[in-house]
Amino acid sequence: MKEISVSATSPSNIAIVKYWGKHGNQLPNNPSVSFTLSRCHTDTQIKALPNGGKDYTIGFLFEGKESPKFQEKIEKYLTDNQQYFGFLKGLDLLVESSNSFPHSSGIASSAASMSALVLCLLQIEKAVNADSSPIDMQKASMLSRLASGSAARSVFPVMALWGATPSVPNSSDEYAVPLAAMVNPVFQTYHDSIMIVSNKEKSVSSRVGHSLMNGHPLAEKRYATARENTERLLKVLKAGDLDGFMAIAEAEALQLHEMMATSTPSYRLMEPNTVKIINLVQKFRHDTKIPVCFTLDAGPNVHVLYPDASAAEVKQFIKSDLSLYCHENQWIDDVVMNNVNL
Ligand code: PMV
Repeated sequence: MKEISVSATSPSNIAIVKYWGKHGNQLPNNPSVSFTLSRCHTDTQIKALPNGGKDYTIGFLFEGKESPKFQEKIEKYLTDNQQYFGFLKGLDLLVESSNSFPHSSGIASSAASMSALVLCLLQIEKAVNADSSPIDMQKASMLSRLASGSAARSVFPVMALWGATPSVPNSSDEYAVPLAAMVNPVFQTYHDSIMIVSNKEKSVSSRVGHSLMNGHPLAEKRYATARENTERLLKVLKAGDLDGFMAIAEAEALQLHEMMATSTPSYRLMEPNTVKIINLVQKFRHDTKIPVCFTLDAGPNVHVLYPDASAAEVKQFIKSDLSLYCHENQWIDDVVMNNVNL
């Protein structure tokens, strides 16, 4: 066998209905829906050299440097899920990865990095088996989910739904499904401007955050609300209902952070400038009637969401008002990925 060389680019995503709480092998306690982003992505390439039939080995470089933490994460993922990766036997792998977003943005996108890794591994499987058929994206989503839950949604453009929900018959807890065909055009070109409030690594990881939902006094209520919000959001997305969208997006973001505040131990990932930005967005919307809203990930940065038709006014507002509350005035000007080629 010859050397195999593969590469993949995979985007980050931002959830509108949030996944927070899991069970079993990375199965979600409620469905989630996200926008797939276009400018925040991970580029990964893998060179696989035949080693004469020995067990596989892995080397990992992130932006040209060794990263023992991420290397360990990949090794653990491959060991825990070895039933899917038998084709790696006999190969020495060198994985090289880089992100499109700035090093110091505080954005640690495991969704982008883990889905890019999986897309590379599936290409290696095809090469080993001399199989020229396209990658099965359902399998790519399922394997991405096993690496990082939210990564399941990153393999589809525009929007994705992960988790079984009544109105989408092919939806599943095991993998995400593409939603593009069910989304009004107004959402297919939506903007997400990410206000970098802090570039520090967050104090409580998502892994710990998910685990604190076990035994959380509000957990069952949260899962029921997320299930209802998923069904409501699907209708809103189809109808192009911006008011309905904004109401769900902001309620979901605040409920995610409410879960953190009411966990034992309690913790907060919002910072004073997170709250300032949120208040300014709501006041701007109230004063101008421009349909702009926010969402939050598990961190202090604020995702400002708006339709393409309002982009000029909102970007002006970001520059003149919101960027003052960002770390070194930093914000990332992202937009929904609406085609498969970046
Ligand atoms: O994929 P994880 O385990 O890092 O969890 C992500 C959780 C949130 O980003 C807060 C919400 C979501 O649905 O993406």
